Amino acid sequence: MLQSCAAGGSRCARRALVVLLGWGLLMIATVQFRHSGQGSLVLNPTVEELGQVPARPRLQSLAASRFLLQRQTSSQREQPASPATTLVATASLPEELEPLLDRRPARSEDELIREIEERLPSLPLAYWTRNGKQTAAKSGGPELPGCIPKYPSIFELEFNNIYWQTMRSSNGTFQLFGAFYDERKLSRIGPAIRIVGMIDRIEPTLKSYCQMWFEGEREPRVVEVLEYKYIWYSKWGNYKQGIYQPYVIACKVPQSHWRRGPPASVSLVEKRCDTASNNLRVTYNKPATKKQFAVCVKGLDFLHEDLSVRLVEWIELIGLLGADKIFFYELQVHPNVTKVLGHYQRLGRVHVTPLTLPGGQPNVPAFQHMYLTKKTNHKRQNELIPYNDCLYKHMYEYEYIALLDVDEVIMPVQDATWQELMRRVVPKAMRLRNETRASYNVRNVYFLDDLLHTHGTFKDIPKYMHMLQHVYRSKNFTKPNQYIKCFHNPERVVTLHNHFPLACLGAGCTSYPIDTEDAQLQHYRADCVKSLKKTCVEYRENSVLDPTIWRYKDKLVARVTATLKILGFFGSSS
Ligand SMILES: *[C@@H]1O[C@H](CO)[C@@H](O)[C@H](O)[C@H]1NC(C)=O
Ligand SMILES: *[C@@H]1O[C@H](CO)[C@@H](O)[C@H](O)[C@H]1NC(C)=O
Ligand SMILES: *[C@@H]1O[C@H](CO)[C@@H](O)[C@H](O)[C@H]1NC(C)=O
Ligand SMILES: *[C@@H]1O[C@H](CO)[C@@H](O)[C@H](O)[C@H]1NC(C)=O
Repeated sequence: MLQSCAAGGSRCARRALVVLLGWGLLMIATVQFRHSGQGSLVLNPTVEELGQVPARPRLQSLAASRFLLQRQTSSQREQPASPATTLVATASLPEELEPLLDRRPARSEDELIREIEERLPSLPLAYWTRNGKQTAAKSGGPELPGCIPKYPSIFELEFNNIYWQTMRSSNGTFQLFGAFYDERKLSRIGPAIRIVGMIDRIEPTLKSYCQMWFEGEREPRVVEVLEYKYIWYSKWGNYKQGIYQPYVIACKVPQSHWRRGPPASVSLVEKRCDTASNNLRVTYNKPATKKQFAVCVKGLDFLHEDLSVRLVEWIELIGLLGADKIFFYELQVHPNVTKVLGHYQRLGRVHVTPLTLPGGQPNVPAFQHMYLTKKTNHKRQNELIPYNDCLYKHMYEYEYIALLDVDEVIMPVQDATWQELMRRVVPKAMRLRNETRASYNVRNVYFLDDLLHTHGTFKDIPKYMHMLQHVYRSKNFTKPNQYIKCFHNPERVVTLHNHFPLACLGAGCTSYPIDTEDAQLQHYRADCVKSLKKTCVEYRENSVLDPTIWRYKDKLVARVTATLKILGFFGSSS
């Protein structure tokens, strides 16, 4: 080009100008192209991350596209963006983009009430909205001459750490978690209300009252508290004024109301006519027939420890053994565990109740974990609340209630299920003494992690099946009555501790020790409990192969693997 330029002057200059113009246009086009290319680069990953369809074609009217948005089902949302929609989105200018907001209509009051009751089951919200707004009559009736307690407004109740309701008295503060209607046949006090909660006092002597609010009655029945049942032994420690202690508080239902069924709600007050600062819904779940086995699990505290895969194996095994449902309480858990629990809750196989520690105790996630690790007596005292809440919530629904940790399994040795086990064990107990027991206890034996590692893994079992892999246990069981777990008979138990009942109806807390030939409590741990440090050395040196669990191998591997796949533990399923 330069050479030909040397020949003719003006023609050459014109040609150069055209070339320059062409090049300029090309550059502008390139810049434009790159700009739009970046636009789609930004949009696409967002779309994938959210798992949602990107902005809709621009030509659709806004109303129509909103309609479409609302109608997207979750399966539609998971589909990747089609090339056509991506192209359109690419060309959108920012002022035309439509963010994907939740455009569902505002909740109605009924929907709100249902949502609140779900989150805070102890609040008698539906009852209050029906009856609470009416004010009490001016003067007292025959029951309460001179005064009539007012039904407290739910907006004037005192809540503590979300799930607790507070009563401050002249001698101690009460934190109440749940209230229950107890009309069990063996209870000699007749129908009663039992309130599970904590009081920052030992041996409380305070005189206090239950105000029982019955459906359709304007005045409450006021009854003096019958007893503060302590769910702890003083010798275990923490026996000090000022530390929150676990109690079950009982109030007898007045005889005039024995046939009326449970009151709708109950308040605890120091003086008969006080306007209460608490009002608890009275739980009464009584189906026509009982199911067999419920398992209760204390407040899960696994914020950083990803127990999800082991939890799936445990839930499936407990199900194979015959648990009808598992009731978890949850303090703090890893997001993967939340995923697992959510999955089984949707299937109706577990229920999760959120939980906090009451009073001044820490509830900031990691700090709470540290507190529970360092302050083991506080931890144990707090645990008794979910255990007893679980007992009273489900006492009419199940024949037996077991309190298990997620590293424990009650394993029948000869039978396939708990049901078959108890069908054989109960007659044995009856032959010894002709009466049903308050509990049937199972001896503890450790399946320690490192017993496996000295033997190597089993090739035909997936490595992620912790319990199926860990089939070496210590030869010796821990001593009778030490670290046992029970099938509790909820017709008999008044207060529950982790390992055994503390107070019972009828003939006291009788417990039948199930023979180790019939069942054992398989305890999967890295190490023994601290108090057994010395014996643990001996346990380690004397181990035996115990593959009882392999009976469930095929079903367990299939179920766990299928669940892990569904939940995306093996990567996305596409
Ligand atoms: C407060 O209650 C405790 C028992 O929890 C009791 O020992 C103490 O005497 C009571 N104090 C008063 C002032 O009544
Ligand atoms: C056991 O007690 C029940 C009643 O409590 C009685 O009907 C039954 O005959 C007794 N059985 C034996 C073997 O004593
Ligand atoms: C294990 O059991 C044997 C026999 O019953 C007993 O001699 C031994 O002391 C026990 N060991 C431990 C650690 O309990
Ligand atoms: C489990 O948690 C890890 C870390 O947050 C995460 O990378 C992984 O995707 C989670 N697994 C599942 C199945 O969600």
